[in-house]
Amino acid sequence: MALQKPTVFSAPAKVILFGEHAVVYGQPAIAVPVSSLRAHAEISTAALFQIDALDTGQILTEKDIQQAVDDALARMAHLILEHYHQIAPAPPLVRIALSSQIPPASGLGSGAAVAAALGRAMAAALGHSIDNDVLNTIVYEVERIFHGTPSGIDNTVIVYEQPIYFVRGAPIERLKIAQPFHLLIGDTGQKGLTRVAVGDVRALYEADREEITPILEQIGQIATQARSNLEDGDISHPYTDLGVLMNKNHALLQRLTVSSPELDRLVSAARDAGAYGAKLSGGGRGGNMIALVDAAMAQSVRDALLKAGAVRVTQTEVR
Ligand code: PMV
Repeated sequence: MALQKPTVFSAPAKVILFGEHAVVYGQPAIAVPVSSLRAHAEISTAALFQIDALDTGQILTEKDIQQAVDDALARMAHLILEHYHQIAPAPPLVRIALSSQIPPASGLGSGAAVAAALGRAMAAALGHSIDNDVLNTIVYEVERIFHGTPSGIDNTVIVYEQPIYFVRGAPIERLKIAQPFHLLIGDTGQKGLTRVAVGDVRALYEADREEITPILEQIGQIATQARSNLEDGDISHPYTDLGVLMNKNHALLQRLTVSSPELDRLVSAARDAGAYGAKLSGGGRGGNMIALVDAAMAQSVRDALLKAGAVRVTQTEVR
């Protein structure tokens, strides 16, 4: 079978700028793609259908994807075949090689990005260019099965690769960023425990709604305020304003108990080195934090993060 071009498909990482955890309770959140960190899926012709996850050594065959009960990648491939009514007859005679630059379990959406890249490659191997709305629904379905009840923010920002203002259940709103800005993403090196953290916030909420509800609402107000700052190019100190909002958001996440000593250490180091603001990003309890910097200070903040224990620092421009 001659393969049509392109044969390599991809999807980016993401970071949540504002609103993690509160988004699960209907509050708005803002997330942006990190286009420099990507998951890739490359198709080549083969005698038998096979998915090779190069980073983990996992190999999936036709049998695995027909069953597809307890594996996220197999389920993703299965749902794509089902969407194109291809479950019987057999899947296409291709090998799909998966690789990812996105560290797993760190709040950067690695699972959703790999699933999205795989979905695009599977669809292409069947002769289709998959619509983003369809892909988003299918990636969410996989996230839901394997990650509890996610809000849907990860799959949405990753599939559309655009900054978004996200409210659970509401139509997706793309965000127009008036002035591009730089973020440093600092990795604690510890696995983020999103599922545990989401469960713990739920327990806190159920135990004392009167205490927790205002925290969630304040996080929502911060996301709303940040949206207007991001969209309004005329404000005098966009960095300062956004940075203050990030710091406030981090303090509220601490009250929800989802930070960690390592995250707090990196957040403080970034601020001390001059960052306009810093906060944990994603589920917390490990994983990554983000710091708002300008080009002049980026290097010193990066050095401070590494000195404070970050195992990796990634710079990204949000535009
Ligand atoms: O850890 P991440 O980046 O997958 O983000 C989780 C974000 C939460 O708001 C904590 C959960 C969710 O489903 O939105």
